[in-house]
Amino acid sequence: MMEQLLEALHVPIRNDIDVVVACQKGRLLAEQFGFSSTEQFVTATVIAEVAHNILDHAYSGEVILDLVEEEGRMGIVVIAMDEGPGIPDVTMALKDGYSTGHGLGLGLSGARRLMDDFEIETEVGRGTTVTMTKWKV
Ligand SMILES: Nc1ncnc2c1ncn2[C@@H]1O[C@H](COP(=O)(O)OP(=O)(O)OP(=O)(O)O)[C@@H](O)[C@H]1O
Ligand SMILES: [Mg+2]
Repeated sequence: MMEQLLEALHVPIRNDIDVVVACQKGRLLAEQFGFSSTEQFVTATVIAEVAHNILDHAYSGEVILDLVEEEGRMGIVVIAMDEGPGIPDVTMALKDGYSTGHGLGLGLSGARRLMDDFEIETEVGRGTTVTMTKWKV
């Protein structure tokens, strides 16, 4: 069973400064709970990707950071939520190099590789929620 260890941090994402704030909060959370510097970096990096996706593809949204424990291990959960256009084809969106904009198309695929658990819930016209977990080694 997954147990929540802290009250979740909610960071609204409306502009580039919010993205930086979300990254810093995520890195600090990882540092405070003894995650390695690599894990701290990975946490900040994936937050940057999903938060930029909110700005680039959905206009605004929210990043939620959670600290959880399951089977004696600690994990950082990063959730990126928006009520934007949704993703019509998730399989395509997760391919390296696929972008409907002018990006490199490496954001989602890279985040999936860097994190241990990765899930996308999306509905066209409704929005997108990306949920990812990094477990402490
Ligand atoms: N929150 C979102 N809402 C709607 N569509 C999204 C969202 N996030 C990603 N997508 C879609 O998935 C595609 C792939 O996302 P990904 O982050 O991999 O690439 P990108 O944002 O286009 O470029 P990059 O992240 O490399 O700058 C996007 O081009 C977009 O079509
Ligand atoms: Mg992107």
